[in-house]
Amino acid sequence: MGVNTITATLILFTATLLLYFSTVAIATDPCASQSDDSGIIVIPIYGNCSPFKNLSDSWDTTIIDMASKDPLRVEYLFGLDSSLRKKRVSAAPIASGQAFDIGNYVVRVKLGTPGQLFFMVLDTSTDEAWVPCSGCIGCSSSTTYSPQASTTYGGPVACYSPRCAQARGALPCPNTGSRACIFNQSYAGSTFSATIVQDSLSLAVDTIPSYAFGCVNSVSGGTIPAQGLLGLGRGPLSLLTQSWSLYSGVFSYCLPSFKSFYFSGSLILGRTGQPRRIRSTPLLRNPRRPSLYYVNLTGVTVGRVQVPLPTEYLAFDPNRGSGTIIDSGTVITRFVQPVYNAIRDEFRNQVKGPFVSIGSFDTCFVKTYETLAPLIKFRFTGLDLTLPYENTLIHSTYGAVACLAMAAAPNNVNSVLNVIANYQQQNLRIMFDTVNNRVGIARELCN
Ligand SMILES: *[C@@H]1O[C@H](CO)[C@@H](O)[C@H](O)[C@H]1NC(C)=O
Ligand SMILES: *[C@@H]1O[C@H](CO)[C@@H](O)[C@H](O)[C@H]1NC(C)=O
Ligand SMILES: *[C@@H]1O[C@H](CO)[C@@H](O)[C@H](O)[C@H]1NC(C)=O
Repeated sequence: MGVNTITATLILFTATLLLYFSTVAIATDPCASQSDDSGIIVIPIYGNCSPFKNLSDSWDTTIIDMASKDPLRVEYLFGLDSSLRKKRVSAAPIASGQAFDIGNYVVRVKLGTPGQLFFMVLDTSTDEAWVPCSGCIGCSSSTTYSPQASTTYGGPVACYSPRCAQARGALPCPNTGSRACIFNQSYAGSTFSATIVQDSLSLAVDTIPSYAFGCVNSVSGGTIPAQGLLGLGRGPLSLLTQSWSLYSGVFSYCLPSFKSFYFSGSLILGRTGQPRRIRSTPLLRNPRRPSLYYVNLTGVTVGRVQVPLPTEYLAFDPNRGSGTIIDSGTVITRFVQPVYNAIRDEFRNQVKGPFVSIGSFDTCFVKTYETLAPLIKFRFTGLDLTLPYENTLIHSTYGAVACLAMAAAPNNVNSVLNVIANYQQQNLRIMFDTVNNRVGIARELCN
């Protein structure tokens, strides 16, 4: 079977999916029954319940498109150098971002009083939270945060305060004029400017008073997640740190399938409600990029073959900042080039070709050969994770093409970072315990 046949089949399968999803979307509104207060749910940002959904795109096109933004994401990650609890589970709903035209997962959050609702991208590698501010220049969303409409608005954080200095990209205090704390950051190829303000943030069953977050005033050079981003990193301005008294530095999430229509995933905050027994691997901290969640990836198995990998590209090294992170904001897993090549070559060895490239994916094959596709296992210190097929391959029940859903990290950065991304985390519970320094992983169906 040649490239043209595969391409033609892919087009047909895209068209079929398009028809399928259009029908579903018109027939029912799967999101309508979901109440606003059902806790914290995470959905894929392009999921059908997501207000960002572009119905004219099929999910596979969307993923191919989303994955094309990963190199910028990986560069961003590389650039990051530098109880009171009530006994109830604090779980917020998560959904696939398909619906939001973002290759990410979104969580429902309210800011201010009365609560202003946002579907914010869940990002474990950023500390700051930010949302488009009313009057924002260049923001794509009409959903903006309005300080005037909130009775709990606490005003801007002062630029000479220690808190301001903790923000990445904080601008120096001007000699005259406003003394508000302003930071400039880049995100996926865009740059934006935001004022750090304080207001209450509600998610799941809890409200965190005086939460410091960025109110985005202007965006240039592209788009940012339309309704903002919730930073779950490890730094001082992250949700983890600002809610320490409530959640003691522990959270977990389950990301539903990219194809899922529902806010069926969850972000569980705090120790209550976490799996009691969960296999885990040490959580490592890298002073070069202190916000990121590093783990020790020691090997990769394809089928029964332990892939020979150059250890210098896997090893955790605080001096170089190298190693492997778990990230909720990158779409498909990226390995540094020599590591990816070795895994891909072994995978190709075991699956009959010919292979074609589609978007970011260089190992696509006719689905007839899918039965030959080997299981892929990530080996971490103390924990082996065998990926379910849905986390390894991108394919369709209707189509005839499947692709290995991984890629090489962009070569143009002095790349030392392997990123375990969200496509590989579907239907798993991933728990981050920053007190006991461990990452737990368990299979959980949250579609
Ligand atoms: C939806 O996708 C179509 C086709 O990719 C594109 O032409 C259109 O501009 C998109 N609409 C929005 C609102 O992004
Ligand atoms: C910060 O961003 C704003 C808006 O994009 C821009 O006008 C300003 O020059 C930037 N400041 C710095 C120091 O980069
Ligand atoms: C990572 O695993 C390798 C191989 O087991 C081991 O030699 C190394 O010490 C581990 N590194 C850390 C930081 O745990």
